[in-house]
Amino acid sequence: LVTLALAAAPLAAQPDEPVRAQHAMVVTIHHDATDAGVSILKQGGNAVDAAVAVGFALAVVHPQAGNIGGGGFMLIRDHTGKTHFLDYREKAPAAATADMYLDAEKNVIPNLSTVGYKSSGVPGTVAGLVYAQRHFGKLTHQQDMAPSIAFATNGYVLTAPEADNLHHKTLAQFPTSARIFQRDGDFYKEGDTFRQPELAATLTRIAANPDDFYKGEMAKQIAAFEQANGGLITASDLAAYEVKDRAPIIGNYRGYKIITAPPPSSGGLVLVEILNILSGYHLRKVGPDRSAAQVHLITEAFRRAYMDRADYLGDPDFTPQPIAQMTNRRYAAAWRKTIRRNKPTPSADLVRPAGFMPPPPTLQPAAHESTQTTHFSIVDAEGNAVANTYTLNNTFGSGVTVDGLGFLLNDEMDDFASKQGVPNMFGLIQGPANSIAPGKRPLSCMTPTIVLRDGKVAWVLGTPGGATIITTVANVFLSVADQGLNIQQAVDAPRFHNQYLPDAVMLEPGFSDATVNGLRSMGYNLRIGRHWGDAECIAVDLHTGELSGGQDHRHNYGKAAGY
Ligand code: DON
Repeated sequence: LVTLALAAAPLAAQPDEPVRAQHAMVVTIHHDATDAGVSILKQGGNAVDAAVAVGFALAVVHPQAGNIGGGGFMLIRDHTGKTHFLDYREKAPAAATADMYLDAEKNVIPNLSTVGYKSSGVPGTVAGLVYAQRHFGKLTHQQDMAPSIAFATNGYVLTAPEADNLHHKTLAQFPTSARIFQRDGDFYKEGDTFRQPELAATLTRIAANPDDFYKGEMAKQIAAFEQANGGLITASDLAAYEVKDRAPIIGNYRGYKIITAPPPSSGGLVLVEILNILSGYHLRKVGPDRSAAQVHLITEAFRRAYMDRADYLGDPDFTPQPIAQMTNRRYAAAWRKTIRRNKPTPSADLVRPAGFMPPPPTLQPAAHESTQTTHFSIVDAEGNAVANTYTLNNTFGSGVTVDGLGFLLNDEMDDFASKQGVPNMFGLIQGPANSIAPGKRPLSCMTPTIVLRDGKVAWVLGTPGGATIITTVANVFLSVADQGLNIQQAVDAPRFHNQYLPDAVMLEPGFSDATVNGLRSMGYNLRIGRHWGDAECIAVDLHTGELSGGQDHRHNYGKAAGY
């Protein structure tokens, strides 16, 4: 995360051991949200109740990504083995058009899809959390929302990096955001208590009437605000919003069953394609974790799977998605044959194995940038598991706070291709399947994932990081499944990333000289940068049932806790 990374240095020495518990575990980027989740579990709530409580709580205590004005995905696997992938991704407003971010010469207008009133999709978070609560929770809305209302009313105490995050320049551009988050320039400092009375009132109204946001008085307020400021979201867009309960993508890797995100996320298809390609190697024999030899093979798998992402993926309700083809093991085997020993394949030279996929459109190179989203993982005493990733897209989303309601709106419209062949803010190039259309959901990388062994939950995984989300989940999974790292070591280990274009391998600080030099001598173009992502993950010991929480030490205000 560019804005949150402290320095381009390895992580400071941190305990290598996860937090352990016998019954239940909650891991989130914010200690207050984690405590809210644990308290709901102790009141008799299940993992979904805890997820709803955490989801609303993070909207208060982690405003740059936690949200009610954005969207996301919640993957649920209950203790009987049933799975649900709740898609509460934003939708393009009815007034959206394919070239709404282009000028008269058909060039992309800078910042129009990332900042301000026109960058927001119709928010899905409230619908998603309410749907989860109604269908799968055990407590009441009021109980699950009580912690978030308390945090907004009474405030929470800011750590130094959290106070720092509130200085964000996008917030300063919008008067209500500048007033609430920046006290009009009298910035909050470490140790200050940050109260959000307008947001408290909004949450209280939602708790009393969960339909208010989409169909009630609140919907009218949001629509009036949008109309007054040139935004596109109308009352009928809000009324038409619906959560989709989709079938997850399923993969298999060395005896593990991977349950992961389907379109409109690219995450699961790309992850499963990566793992299918890698399943033909014995990575542990190739070299130690994060050795040049391993990073080479994994990167080549990343590159190939991201090429398919760029060319094919989008909202499944608008364009049929090549699910069977991308997860076909023979297709992966054909890709594997094109991977060279100790030598990268330049992305421009990749030739997709014939006979599996239709021909792709032409593509161009891109630059990478990263911002903010948040993931949390929960397992309860009954064995129900939840992996939830949700987002405003950019840090603090569009920067716009809805007057009188105190919540930030997303800039998720940038996840569409504003123009084909032109990279979005994550440097991702996308095809016609991800063009803008009214009512369509933008393609995501978010990859909430649950991994099983012998029918039992082994890991709950996920992270923010834009384009790096999928490779981060792959990095963490391969380190625990193939290398035997514990979940804490795996989330803290330095990450590497390739997304096909740009043709570079991004490395976090912390790789050994041997790995860096080994990759350079193979011919890799390396970009060693800052840290990214925030993987808040859980491991379950398959023999004892003991839970381990891996709280990402890239941030210092998160928490893993259980009982
Ligand atoms: O859905 C997506 O893939 C992006 N909107 C996620 C953005 C993100 O992860 C930014 N955070 N680091």
